[in-house]
Amino acid sequence: MRISKRAERIEPFYVMEVAKAASAVARNVAHTDRPMIFLNIGEPDFTAPLPVQEAALRAVRAGATQYTHATGLDVLRERISAWYSERFGVDVPARRIVVTAGASAALQLACLALIEAGDEILLPDPSYPCNRHFVSAADGRAVLIPTTAGERFQLSAAKVEAAWTERTRGVLLASPSNPTGTSIEPGELRRIHEVVTRRGGITLIDEIYLGLSYDDAFGQSALGIDDQIISVNSFSKYFSMTGWRLGWLVVPEALVPVIERLAQNLFICASTVSQYAALACFEPESIAEYERRRAEFKARRDWFIPQLQALGLEVPVVPDGAFYAWADCSAFGEKLGIANSWDFAFEAMKKAHLAVTPGRDFGTAETSRFVRFSTASSMAHLQESVERLRAWAGAGVPA
Ligand SMILES: Cc1ncc(COP(=O)(O)O)c(C=O)c1O
Repeated sequence: MRISKRAERIEPFYVMEVAKAASAVARNVAHTDRPMIFLNIGEPDFTAPLPVQEAALRAVRAGATQYTHATGLDVLRERISAWYSERFGVDVPARRIVVTAGASAALQLACLALIEAGDEILLPDPSYPCNRHFVSAADGRAVLIPTTAGERFQLSAAKVEAAWTERTRGVLLASPSNPTGTSIEPGELRRIHEVVTRRGGITLIDEIYLGLSYDDAFGQSALGIDDQIISVNSFSKYFSMTGWRLGWLVVPEALVPVIERLAQNLFICASTVSQYAALACFEPESIAEYERRRAEFKARRDWFIPQLQALGLEVPVVPDGAFYAWADCSAFGEKLGIANSWDFAFEAMKKAHLAVTPGRDFGTAETSRFVRFSTASSMAHLQESVERLRAWAGAGVPA
């Protein structure tokens, strides 16, 4: 059977191979005193709070399960708009918000609406692999630009300027980022957008981890800079609703009919039950619970990062958001004769019964030195992980 070039271009998701191997090891060690700890998980270890669960049940029982408008329930768009105003002090009218089946659908809609075959989109290396694959799926070319710790593993205006060619259509950023948990410094983001605007391009930003921000210097939506910026967000992370498949896209007003047309054809609408449930996310009781969880994620970060550093797993930039630690495992691995982060991940699962994500999926620049630890796991698991890493490394590593 002939497979489309478009499908052939999508690289495998190596993380899944690692996850499969980790599950196989996990089965063998499940009954030992050291069952596998999964620090390779990219989703909160919390589920939707009770008011959200109850709202979903109410919707099901009331039979509120028909299609909604392609742009989502108007009342939900209004709630999201109010959230921007209350939390970030940004005026985002509901008519510019399109509710989608997760950030993933939002990114697909944005890419399909804006990218012509052969258009180039600039992304940082490292970055979330699916984002470059959304560009490829729209027949664009994702251009990965190596970044440094000094740049917080994000693009800079100077690099965007230098990389721009006549084929460049825009940038696709993520702030805070997966896998690094680091945000773009606000001044730099402004400058990047100035370069993009001067070149007539588009600034598309994935703000899925914005709700999980821990430092005052960051945590502001890019939508405060310019209403021409396109922002993607989701109920998956801050709102702990990964499997409910709900997110949203904020676009300039002129783009709404285009996105609506695409959404009508490609998805009809996002899950109706999830949309009714999500209304309860904004109730004071739910927000209080989400804020408690955010504080928990911050406490984990504050404890875990120094522990990794002490083990010789250097985290060059302290994450200001999300629930990841992007750690250089080369010094740690060298002492154990481990050549790269891919081997580190497989050795860690065998020797320490610890699943982590090797850098390979996230780019090519320095990713063979880096692994991603997820702190979307309980403090007890994080503490046990550190003990196991210490025991694995042996006496040579300072505790
Ligand atoms: C940076 C980033 N963007 C988008 C997504 C997709 O999220 P959703 O569940 O909203 O589709 C993820 C999921 O891990 C992510 O890390």
